[in-house]
Amino acid sequence: MNLTLKIWRQKDATSQGKIVDYQVKGIEGDMSFLEMLDVLNEELISKGEEPVVFDHDCREGICGACSLQINGEPHGPDRLVTTCQLHMRKFNDGDTIYIEPFRAKAFPVVKDLMVDRSAFDRIQHAGGYISVNTSGNTIDANAIPVNKDDADDAFAAATCIGCGACVAACKNASAMLFTSAKVSQFALLPQGQVEATDRVLAMVNQMDEEGFGNCTNTGACEIECPKGISLENIARMNREYLKASMKG
Ligand code: SF4
Ligand code: FES
Repeated sequence: MNLTLKIWRQKDATSQGKIVDYQVKGIEGDMSFLEMLDVLNEELISKGEEPVVFDHDCREGICGACSLQINGEPHGPDRLVTTCQLHMRKFNDGDTIYIEPFRAKAFPVVKDLMVDRSAFDRIQHAGGYISVNTSGNTIDANAIPVNKDDADDAFAAATCIGCGACVAACKNASAMLFTSAKVSQFALLPQGQVEATDRVLAMVNQMDEEGFGNCTNTGACEIECPKGISLENIARMNREYLKASMKG
């Protein structure tokens, strides 16, 4: 495949960015989207030009580092896959592909296609943990009965990889799907009950402080989420928040 790429280039956080056109040739359908960008970067480096900066780590759909807005969609046209797992067979010879960073006020651009998603870390630090008594009287986690449906829902919520596609997909740049997944994975389990009240209040408060927008139930986040995180988590977080506010 020969493709035209229209890529967002931005020197640093304070510089103005712009779309720059590139041509890539000989792209195979079995290549991943990131491998296609590797081909472009090797060519740029061999010509003495600056390679395009983009985030990646595992390239296995696990870490949540890759984060590209491809033809206007976070992680591109495929469903339930991250950018690193998106294959070039989803495109056709001669296509023009727009590649931009995830856009949100709370995700400032670092360089080119790389954004700073540390706002998610700070939401996690505000309450995404449990405290366990390790004094010697610790109860084995496996000895605490958990309803199977709750265990399944908690596990599904815990599959969120913190990629930020939900924010990039949302017209309000809301982080409700991410935050609700992190709240839900504990709210559904007995181990998460001790700090439940403080957790939901602190995480929602941090989410607001970071400058993410409000949820207006559009549902774009759920559609673009590579891990299929359900909107039910947002409803659960709202219930948890209401309960905690009434206690507080
Ligand atoms: S909810 Fe989905 S889209 Fe949002 S950060 Fe988690 S995995 Fe990514
Ligand atoms: S590079 Fe880790 S999920 Fe894509």
